[in-house]
Amino acid sequence: MKGASLARPVRRIESVVDAVGNTPLVRLRHVAASAPDVAVYAKLELANPGGSVKDRPALRMIQDALADGRLTSDKVLIDSTSGNTGVAYSLYGAALGVRVRLVMPLNVSKPRKDIARAFGTDIVFSDPMEGSDGAIRQVRAIVAAEPDKYFYPDQYANPSNPLSHYLGTGQEILDAMGDRITHFVAGLGTTGTMMGTTRRLKEHSRPIRCIAVEPADALHGLEGLKHLASSLVPPIYDAHVPDEILPVKTEDGWTMADRLAQEEGLSVGHSSGANVFAAVKVAEQAQREHGGGCVVVIVCDRGDRYFAPMKWERRYVW
Ligand SMILES: Cc1ncc(COP(=O)(O)O)c(C=O)c1O
Repeated sequence: MKGASLARPVRRIESVVDAVGNTPLVRLRHVAASAPDVAVYAKLELANPGGSVKDRPALRMIQDALADGRLTSDKVLIDSTSGNTGVAYSLYGAALGVRVRLVMPLNVSKPRKDIARAFGTDIVFSDPMEGSDGAIRQVRAIVAAEPDKYFYPDQYANPSNPLSHYLGTGQEILDAMGDRITHFVAGLGTTGTMMGTTRRLKEHSRPIRCIAVEPADALHGLEGLKHLASSLVPPIYDAHVPDEILPVKTEDGWTMADRLAQEEGLSVGHSSGANVFAAVKVAEQAQREHGGGCVVVIVCDRGDRYFAPMKWERRYVW
């Protein structure tokens, strides 16, 4: 056969757990065109095997607990999550032989339940009116009733969550960008991504400004992100870690998610839309004030995870 080979190095791995991380950084040329001298790179966490940024902390929380004996073969992993962490627990639980039980609000979409169940996960439903905080409270009650039966990773309080980003996401960004990176942008959910990645980036010899994204309103449609002022504040959160918090409106996140699909070929979820919306604002400011820069922004998951429940989500009913 004539012509140059298109083959790139292929990794051969022993288990799906070895496929987590090393996600690519892709330059956003169209949606960031308003800051032409600032490079904006999206870190594609959607490329993880479970399709999201939560693969890293879920796997790390399981592995660390197996290593120090908090999780043993007779225990069931239980946590509250209707979304990406649940998919990741289910996937890595299956791969590592750990039974998984998830508590999620009754009104989560059928595809959410189906993905978790496909990996053999057992689901318990909580009051839909109480949202994700209600699911957290229900898990705590179940674990308190039978503490020896369960391993409760509690992603909001577990140091392995930010550690996965300190050792993974942050290190990978520095390895790929070196001294070029001037800004980092990520959303606040459990806050693990922001805490862990920022701590690693702050160790770099050159200053990197780290900006956290949160929904502008308490009732919002940016799934995965928390409006901290009106939520249970995660114990792993340290308000001193981000240099700045940028509020983003639901509409702006949704519109940017549409633009990323149509202009960059990246179908992403709404929290990623919000992160990129904020990253473009940061890039425009760097353009005005410094005439250049390099912004890295986290793209958390894929857009197809949000197809089914679109209509009611758009009315922010949760
Ligand atoms: C879609 C999505 N975006 C953003 C986040 C926030 O990430 P973190 O929990 O690390 O703050 C999450 C995590 O829950 C998520 O599922």
